[in-house]
Amino acid sequence: MPGWELIDKKERIALNNLVKKEGGVLFAHGFNNLRKKFHVREFENEISKKFKSKYSLAVTSGTAALKIALKSIGVKQGDEVITQAFNFIATIEAILDTGAKPVIVGVDDTLNMCPNDLKKKITKKTKVIIPVQMLGVPADLKNIIKISKAKKIKIISDNCESMGAKFDNKFINELVDIEIFSLDFAKTITCGEGGLILTNNPKIAKYCREYHDHGHENKIFPRGNDKASIVGFNYRMTEMQAVIGKVQLEKFNFIIKENKKRHIVLENNLKKLSTIRKIPKGGVSIFDTFIFEPKKNRSQIIKYLSKKGFGTKNLPDAIKWHCSYYWKHALSRKNLKNSLKTMEKLKKQIAIPIFIKKTVSDYELLAKGLRVYLK
Ligand SMILES: Cc1ncc(COP(=O)(O)O)c(C=O)c1O
Repeated sequence: MPGWELIDKKERIALNNLVKKEGGVLFAHGFNNLRKKFHVREFENEISKKFKSKYSLAVTSGTAALKIALKSIGVKQGDEVITQAFNFIATIEAILDTGAKPVIVGVDDTLNMCPNDLKKKITKKTKVIIPVQMLGVPADLKNIIKISKAKKIKIISDNCESMGAKFDNKFINELVDIEIFSLDFAKTITCGEGGLILTNNPKIAKYCREYHDHGHENKIFPRGNDKASIVGFNYRMTEMQAVIGKVQLEKFNFIIKENKKRHIVLENNLKKLSTIRKIPKGGVSIFDTFIFEPKKNRSQIIKYLSKKGFGTKNLPDAIKWHCSYYWKHALSRKNLKNSLKTMEKLKKQIAIPIFIKKTVSDYELLAKGLRVYLK
């Protein structure tokens, strides 16, 4: 459920305060004599505290976060990076942007990376594995991490669609090398556009911080005399994004709690009449989306969801942006072939988005209507 539904007076007041009361500096660094606060830095500290990571870095988007994360591990031309077929194109774009080759793995019943297929796709060139925790649900991380450790391959967890998902009672950054979030307009919390990189590795954290800011070490202020030891880029978040991000973060627990109430209604009503998406043992979802496979009347159900104003989110409404089978412009024939079984599996699923503006009673009514098609 996207945080945009909850944007209200609080975000507006935070923006007004930034401009009217706090000096109006919109840049994350410097101008110390003009400003009262450093919102991007505060936002990063709050993220670290909330999701138990030693280091957090706010950047311009989830796609930028992926690219920076890959660069921090030293991914380059000639390397292979493994990710999954149920995904978003950003992962592939970030891999290609480093010069590396994407390798696609199919999904299991969690609709996330299949550990068995992962094992088959690892080669001597594999540098990183990117499991993508799609639509709120974590992958079978126990087995994925086991495989990565045995092969000494680093993991970047793409949690753009699953901020706050857990595995074995831990946030995912506590288990892997890097976890990334997106703060774009359709995500659990949003500041319009934005991304976050969470890690517990000081070397990775240092590289990411420098790379996202033209290589700046940020040791010398004013920054005119500051030094750089790497070539970077500009992926800096603005203070405007951060003030909104901070307010949205205050709403995070409420969002997850409300997600769960609505998700449970669908789960209880539909579980005996359809196959619902599997949550891996040890995994904790953020209940962002309810996904199920009806045994009959699929197209009537999709029409019904559209008529009732829910739609079907990624499955099937936006399947072409979320299944690598359709990305002929970016992937090799072999990767497209590797995506076929996932495409066939996804084509049987229906995703119901969880909205906060729709009440629990709205979901009860919806479930009642859906049961008629499923019985
Ligand atoms: C799984 C996944 N990864 C990466 C991204 C990219 O995030 P952003 O839109 O912030 O660049 C998205 C955004 O939709 C996503 O869903």
